Amino acid sequence: MPGYYSDEIIQEVKEGNDVVDVISEYLQLKRTGSNFKGLCPFHNEKTPSFVVSPSKQIFHCFGCGESGNVINFIMKYQNVSFPEALELLADRVGIQLQQSDQKEYNRKRKKKDKLLEINRETARYFYRNLSNNDLGHKYLLNRGINNDTIKTFGLGYAKNSWEDLLKYLLHKGFTQKDIEESGLIIKRKKMEGYYDRFRNRVMFPIIDVKGNVIGFGGRVIDDGQPKYLNSPETPVFSKGYNLYGLNIAKKYARNDKIILVEGYMDVISLYKFGIKNCVASLGTALTKDQVKLLKRYSDKFYICYDNDNAGINAANKAIDVFKKQGLESHVVILPEKGDPDEYIGKHGKEAFYKVLDNPYNYIDFKIYMYKKKYDISDLDNRIHFTREISKMLKNINSPIERDAYVSRISEDTNISEEAIRKEMSNKNSSRPTTSKDKYIKYNNRNNNKDSIKPVSYSLEPGHLIAEKKLLKLLIDDKNIYNRVKDNFKPESFFNDLYRKIATNVYDMYEKGLEVNSDELLDCFNDDKDINTIKKLIEEDIQISNSEKIKAVKDFINKINYYKLKIKRQKIKDQIRNIETNDNKGDVGKFEKLCMELIKIDKELKLHQ
Ligand code: CTP
Ligand code: MN
Repeated sequence: MPGYYSDEIIQEVKEGNDVVDVISEYLQLKRTGSNFKGLCPFHNEKTPSFVVSPSKQIFHCFGCGESGNVINFIMKYQNVSFPEALELLADRVGIQLQQSDQKEYNRKRKKKDKLLEINRETARYFYRNLSNNDLGHKYLLNRGINNDTIKTFGLGYAKNSWEDLLKYLLHKGFTQKDIEESGLIIKRKKMEGYYDRFRNRVMFPIIDVKGNVIGFGGRVIDDGQPKYLNSPETPVFSKGYNLYGLNIAKKYARNDKIILVEGYMDVISLYKFGIKNCVASLGTALTKDQVKLLKRYSDKFYICYDNDNAGINAANKAIDVFKKQGLESHVVILPEKGDPDEYIGKHGKEAFYKVLDNPYNYIDFKIYMYKKKYDISDLDNRIHFTREISKMLKNINSPIERDAYVSRISEDTNISEEAIRKEMSNKNSSRPTTSKDKYIKYNNRNNNKDSIKPVSYSLEPGHLIAEKKLLKLLIDDKNIYNRVKDNFKPESFFNDLYRKIATNVYDMYEKGLEVNSDELLDCFNDDKDINTIKKLIEEDIQISNSEKIKAVKDFINKINYYKLKIKRQKIKDQIRNIETNDNKGDVGKFEKLCMELIKIDKELKLHQ
């Protein structure tokens, strides 16, 4: 049955996938005013004319005219159909696509709306409770939280009673079943009925960036256990996808950093002192989805967790989560044990700002961590320490920065700079993954491993698309084969799988056969290859007969152009190699390479 997706689900997928976020996973975008700019992936260009607008959620290329929303981008970039693009994007943000079942979808949407309504009503109720209840109110005042802050965060109080909230919500007309799904009540084990999850606790409503109350945290006001209790996962609440306080911090993060702390009280307390750009990861390890969410509101992040072992280790994990998403973040370590709430309470706002003035960057923090791990007064440890650091230092791109660290580590360890540099140039180095590497791996995911080319000589998006479309035209039409066979051989395909397919296709034509898809598929064993070929056969590339000849010419031109670029790159690398190795003995070779480079540059010019 063909897929049918309702407008609502399409909307939800679009809302979940920020266009800047998604496109940034494929291209390098730079902010220019309120928009982002980059090199267009759909035509070949040297100066960026591809613009992405976060406020309009669209892209537009002023060079080639391609434009559209986030779904259109994926369709064009990945060369997939609308439903496929929708599925990719839904997957990306964990939305379950319910194909061809609008009823089911509507039922879920209604359920979510109902749960949000229950939560909102409950938050209001808890808030009102606070003004009627001295215990909860006093607790917060005692901790230095004033009424303004209570109001901003909508703090409240859950009474010390087993069925208070349940009764209130039933009275408001909500069903027991819905209330149970909201996680606010729990089924009794030994007898009939339900009881309130939160009792005698000050309550923190958790509000998402759209302003929905999606869950709650509650803190005991005495020494009871557990100290904090949170809403369970519900259809509207997934811990790993939200951050406490982001609904407020996002307003203050525009031209500032976002400070990541551990707890509810840290966010609230810092807010009271006027530091309003703080969020908490709800007591769990920071997730990549949380980082992706944060990325929408700032590009600068400070991690300021508790100064204790757990906090430092959590910060170490968090800085890596940022790094994996291609973002730089800094770690702030409080000068004494405790959390930001305690620190600012004791020492005040200015002292806290001073701490923020000295954040550790990635490398500094890693060095700090390794020093904690290895006592470097011991020789063996010093060697381990230096090895680990060297591994990291070789990934720093800036030579100046790298040098600075080398001399620092050398001072710290008494190991010579030369030895550290040697360690760094050790063969089994692992290059950091750049977005370009990611692209190559992604596009070659259907091919066998051998086809992953060295990164510097890799396919560009336009190259791959041109090869794919040319191959498709060849499969579909023997006339095309007859036209190109003499000057475009199967070996001319750069992509391994395409080259193999083309070899078989040419073979069939040479034997006087038509290309039969079953026979073509029979030539391949690998399931992934077979899938790719099936897709290729079924694909409609939308080129009319009258346009075919011109299209073929264009594709071949493009492929030749990209190949020249790869060749150029190879020659440049060889030249650089000779230069850096001081291999001046080989003057002849050097000159020859330079001449070749000039020749290629001329040819490349002709292509433009
Ligand atoms: N947390 C939780 N469940 C617990 C303990 C902690 O969900 N049983 C989460 C809460 O979000 C809490 C955060 O982890 O805010 C940090 O915990 P902790 O450092 O123990 O609490 P504090 O934030 O310091 O709380 P307080 O100052 O109120 O003691
Ligand atoms: Mn605390």
